[in-house]
Amino acid sequence: MRVAISGKGGVGKTTISAVLSRTMSRRGHRVIAIDCDSDPNLAANVGLKEEMVGMLRPFLDQSGEVRFVPRNLSPSTLLAQYGYHGPDGITLMLAARAEKAGSG
Ligand SMILES: Nc1ncnc2c1ncn2[C@@H]1O[C@H](COP(=O)(O)OP(=O)(O)O)[C@@H](O)[C@H]1O
Ligand SMILES: [Mg+2]
Repeated sequence: MRVAISGKGGVGKTTISAVLSRTMSRRGHRVIAIDCDSDPNLAANVGLKEEMVGMLRPFLDQSGEVRFVPRNLSPSTLLAQYGYHGPDGITLMLAARAEKAGSG
């Protein structure tokens, strides 16, 4: 099952995602929770230790103008390299993180 949660900022997407991820995992489902927000905070919301939150490396290639999934890595390699163990057995992945704010 794949679940995508999107919508306007501040409506509770991250909160719902965190609770859903942990609850599904506790019930025995294999959960890979992917934060696709460029201002990510799912890791903190699932309860990952504060010192770990800042250490997560995003899996999207952010070297150019356009971010993309590295084409030379298979999904299982991506998971092995960029998946982090989270509370209740979830695997957490971070898509991107804005390095600095732009203008406008
Ligand atoms: N059901 C709710 N009732 C009250 N406050 C909530 C609820 N869900 C989320 N919040 C709060 O609203 C704020 C925004 O939630 P968040 O999950 O970060 O939204 P989003 O990811 O959509 O931007 C947070 O401070 C969160 O604690
Ligand atoms: Mg959010």
